[in-house]
Amino acid sequence: MGKVIAMAGKGGTGKTTTAALIVRCIKEKKLGSVLAIDADPNSNLAQSLGVTSEATIGEILDNISVNPQNLPSGITKERFIQHQVQMAIQEEDGFDILTMGKPEGPGCYCYVNNVLRGVMTKLIKDYDYIVIDNEAGLEHLSRRTTRFADLLLVVSDPTGVGLKSAQRINELAKELKFEVKKRFLLVNRFNKNIQKEKIKETSLDYLGSLPQDPEIENLSLQGKSIFELEPNTQALTALNLLGDQLWKRN
Ligand SMILES: Nc1ncnc2c1ncn2[C@@H]1O[C@H](COP(=O)(O)OP(=O)(O)OP(=O)(O)O)[C@@H](O)[C@H]1O
Ligand SMILES: [Mg+2]
Repeated sequence: MGKVIAMAGKGGTGKTTTAALIVRCIKEKKLGSVLAIDADPNSNLAQSLGVTSEATIGEILDNISVNPQNLPSGITKERFIQHQVQMAIQEEDGFDILTMGKPEGPGCYCYVNNVLRGVMTKLIKDYDYIVIDNEAGLEHLSRRTTRFADLLLVVSDPTGVGLKSAQRINELAKELKFEVKKRFLLVNRFNKNIQKEKIKETSLDYLGSLPQDPEIENLSLQGKSIFELEPNTQALTALNLLGDQLWKRN
């Protein structure tokens, strides 16, 4: 069974960056097969990993709703979509990636999530690790895709407001009775003036922090991928040190 790591956190805290760093670490440590899932409708995980997404679940659904005659007979629509999704998984160098995207036609984003939920059980069997990058906010928590997570990684900036938001995410996750085994807090762009008691108040297990890293800033300014970071870059080094708790298998 694969280990599912799901990202959560307020907008712009560094979820996508951290997800990409995790994928890179798992790949380079040769810990096993890894599937990256971009579950943010405004997807950019593929770009962070230096690949172009070829097909999204959203596009597949659009295609089916525009051309229902393409549905083969003798198979339910659901099975067909699940098969298409399986086909949409891109095999890249050292990791696979699935982009959920957003349907353009009528129908809502929750349908994309229903589809993903339908294939999650199989995906968990197929991979050693699944890293899900989520959109900002709390909404994805109430969709059940995140419920497959073994580990919820809440990313926060070092401010009081940011940590309060991490606390809220944790409270909602508890309320929804997730079967998540671990809920961690990662403070990104660490600042030594951070109020330690605010970290405690989140009631999340404190994993540690990543520094503000000019190399990461440069990557996004230049549209480069996480694999172009030098191995000794601060943020990558920091994550490597913390990461055992993320990728260790029980
Ligand atoms: N440790 C860091 N040092 C420097 N820049 C960082 C760091 N972490 C993230 N960034 C930059 O901050 C911006 C936002 O990061 P990222 O896209 O990972 O956040 P996010 O939480 O995924 O945002 P969103 O909520 O929009 O999905 C990016 O330009 C990224 O390169
Ligand atoms: Mg993001």
